[in-house]
Amino acid sequence: MKFSIKGGNPEKQRSACIVVGVLDSRKLTDAAQAMDEIANGYISGILRGGDMEGKAGSTLVLHNVPGTLCERVLLVGLGKEQDLGDKGYHDAIRATFKALHETGAKDATLFLTEAPVKKRDAGWKVSQIVIIAMESIYRFDHLKSKMEGNKPHLHKVTLGMSSRAELASSEEALQQGLAIADGMKVVKDLGNLAPNICTPTYLAKQAVEIAKAYKLKVTILEQKDMEKLGMGALLAVARGSRQPAKLIALEYWGRTKKEKPIALVGKGVTFDTGGISLKPAAEMDEMKYDMCGAASVLGTITAIARLQLPINVVGIIPTTENMPGGNATRPGDVVTSMSGQTIEILNTDAEGRLILCDALTYAERYEPETVIDIATLTGACVIALGHVASGLLSNDEELAEELLYASGEAADRAWRLPLWDDYQEQLKSNFADIANIGGRAAGTVTAACFLSRFTKRYRWAHLDIAGTAWKSGKEKGATGRPVPLLTQFLIRRTLKKTP
Ligand code: BES
Ligand code: MN
Ligand code: ZN
Repeated sequence: MKFSIKGGNPEKQRSACIVVGVLDSRKLTDAAQAMDEIANGYISGILRGGDMEGKAGSTLVLHNVPGTLCERVLLVGLGKEQDLGDKGYHDAIRATFKALHETGAKDATLFLTEAPVKKRDAGWKVSQIVIIAMESIYRFDHLKSKMEGNKPHLHKVTLGMSSRAELASSEEALQQGLAIADGMKVVKDLGNLAPNICTPTYLAKQAVEIAKAYKLKVTILEQKDMEKLGMGALLAVARGSRQPAKLIALEYWGRTKKEKPIALVGKGVTFDTGGISLKPAAEMDEMKYDMCGAASVLGTITAIARLQLPINVVGIIPTTENMPGGNATRPGDVVTSMSGQTIEILNTDAEGRLILCDALTYAERYEPETVIDIATLTGACVIALGHVASGLLSNDEELAEELLYASGEAADRAWRLPLWDDYQEQLKSNFADIANIGGRAAGTVTAACFLSRFTKRYRWAHLDIAGTAWKSGKEKGATGRPVPLLTQFLIRRTLKKTP
């Protein structure tokens, strides 16, 4: 799908479909008003007839509207003006693309960047439209032998803007939206791929492909390399699997190497059976998404490479399967992590923190300015925050604020949970320096507490994306989150610095 931004008035556009907003109750936006005027009151007449109130997410397609230069006019409900926030706008844009795909229109011109969304500028609306449009055409059907349904006709989207002042900033927002959408697609494709295909070796290959495409440096550590480094925690998880574990490091240097990089560390468990602490059978297939943290690192680096952001970022991905087997780690085993701290593995299903802790120690060699890890780490996070917000925990107030701000800007929600020392008690072990589980209470916090033992040398934040990385049920699939949050965070970082 191609996107462009164009200044000009709606009534003068030639297009297969013009899209304009209607507020509840039956209040025309400026663009809708302009169309109505050229059509001599045809549109307002239809509304008066009771065909549309303007409820958020409702749509009405009109054909051959008199006086216009387009084949169709699509009216999109925006809800009540005083209530129009992010959610109402997202619903309206989703409904727009659903309705457009139901028509035969090959191109469309949208006048929806002027919708009065609370606290949001035109640029924000542009990038949200691009992301939702790309989401609406996303399919994952390459593992099906026959194509299902029709391909959408729509292949050209023009974002119309009557206000010239907003054109320039919107162009940048368009490029950012496209880059984020691209990064999200990388995450969705990897997340949705079957776990017999998307193995640690496959993830490493994908990182090499990305490195080739954008001329980045990539290093793949094999198990023997990890042994030399003393990564006993990561290797403990890999023991039960026939698939060799890997540690991927993908480096993006958008500035001089003198500037310290930001490290993104992503959990890459390509399938989590729980190991000897085996998970129940129901919905175990969803544990193929346990590599979405890793995928979001690859997706975010793709997005910033595409934007050529002036920033240094290193992606570090520990990747393995978590399988039971004759050689698998047992509950009760004690292992030594790369940091030298010993760990009593009381539950082999708490494997994410084991692979992350060694990756977090490995990150030290890049002397990072900041480290952010991204992981589908705890079921407890799904209980606490559902599928709406990612959990955020950090040892640095400023960094936490920065991430929350970026999350708000990107409309990719996150919510902070505490990391107080009081919780560290729960990780006490009788036989090692630390236990890998902290009991049922505050599971997301104690998991982060475990990680915090390995992140003392830098500013660090942890994103628990167990509830936000994928959807279950009928729409089962990876969501591409938190690529918008991470990309926005990195974009903001480039704004602070002078060249
Ligand atoms: N990958 C899971 C976390 C998870 C569970 C994500 C459900 C999404 C949905 C993680 O490896 C895990 O199994 N965590 C355990 C930790 C427990 C053993 C302390 C959990 O959350 O149950
Ligand atoms: Mn697990
Ligand atoms: Zn897991």
